[in-house]
Amino acid sequence: DLVYANATNGELPRLPYDHERLRDLAEQAMEPGPFGYVEGSAGRERTALANVEAFSRYALRPRSLRPRSRDKGGLGVTLFGESYPTPLLTAPIGVLEQVHDRAELAVAEGADPVGVPMVLSTASSTPMEEVAEAVDFWWYQLYWPGDDELAESFVRRATAAGAKAIVVTADTKRLGWRPRDLAQGHLPFLRSQGTANYFSDPVFRSRLKADPEPDGVFTEAVFHFLGSFADKGLSTDNIARIRAWTDLPVLVKGVLRADEAVELAEIGVDGVVVSNHGGRQIDNSVAALDALPEVVEAVGERMTVLFDSGVRSGADVAVAMALGARAVLLGRPWVYGLAVDGAAGVEHVLRSFLAELQITAELLGRDVADLDRGDVARR
Ligand code: FNR
Repeated sequence: DLVYANATNGELPRLPYDHERLRDLAEQAMEPGPFGYVEGSAGRERTALANVEAFSRYALRPRSLRPRSRDKGGLGVTLFGESYPTPLLTAPIGVLEQVHDRAELAVAEGADPVGVPMVLSTASSTPMEEVAEAVDFWWYQLYWPGDDELAESFVRRATAAGAKAIVVTADTKRLGWRPRDLAQGHLPFLRSQGTANYFSDPVFRSRLKADPEPDGVFTEAVFHFLGSFADKGLSTDNIARIRAWTDLPVLVKGVLRADEAVELAEIGVDGVVVSNHGGRQIDNSVAALDALPEVVEAVGERMTVLFDSGVRSGADVAVAMALGARAVLLGRPWVYGLAVDGAAGVEHVLRSFLAELQITAELLGRDVADLDRGDVARR
């Protein structure tokens, strides 16, 4: 409400409210390599385009005078038995110091006061324990390394540092074909430290002959990092093993099919994130939003289904929630806010999304947490 009140009372925004203009400002503010890394997607980038276009195929169905089912107002949701003040989380984004010097610490400063928890990437530029100090709620995203003892160490560290859930990313057994990075010779993981969680890890360090040199490129440690980045044999067996390491809820991110979601439900996974990694892994794959209904139908009663990929406004969040997502992860929009204006930019983007979501839900006659299939139709 404050966003709306201030903006209509002569106060001009520091940043635009629409995604495309913010992205253009970020492009001006960033070096071409890092901008290409963030904006780029796999192949001809058809998946990324489809993600955004998919939202226009669904239409919200206001029933303006419907009595409110629970007169809470507000944006709160319950996930895994915990109350969250909003249904948004920041999606895990690796090597953020390419976007801003203060990386995850600036994100924490912008997102925490707005009630948006971070899902911290395995490839974060800041060790997870430092991020944990700076935020209230956070979740840990695991890229399962090709070294199970290292995977165990990451999960145990995250649990000890107070993460509220573990999100295993399933769609990145290796990086996709990303022409923008290739054309610019920009391999983000080599240029910069997506390695903070690795270099600070006792298991990782025990694998090295010598201490990692700070800022080293092509050192033994960096090669070891690249070699242990992802387990190409990642399967449901890995996911089942996590249970021995943590009592936290376990989610799998990057699920696009009902059959896979059912398999995960059967091995006791607590949640899935329907996502195609923002189109960065496979060109011309199904739009994430188009996969959401089948996954919700198959496992929505048994598992918590979350969503990301292509969300560009508060109204988009409402559509994803109406289709059954219990919460939504935001990616590129806040990354551009971070590039242009640091923590304040992150906060601006998140506040705008939340304000539009709240206004939209009120106009639909709904509480955000109660949005359902009846609130949306195929256009
Ligand atoms: C990502 N994504 C990602 N996912 C993940 O599980 N671990 C990671 O480290 C990263 N890193 C990453 C970097 C950048 C620059 C981007 C844009 C994305 C995927 C991310 O979590 C999310 O799925 C997408 O960003 C959603 O798509 P949109 O909405 O950003 O287009």
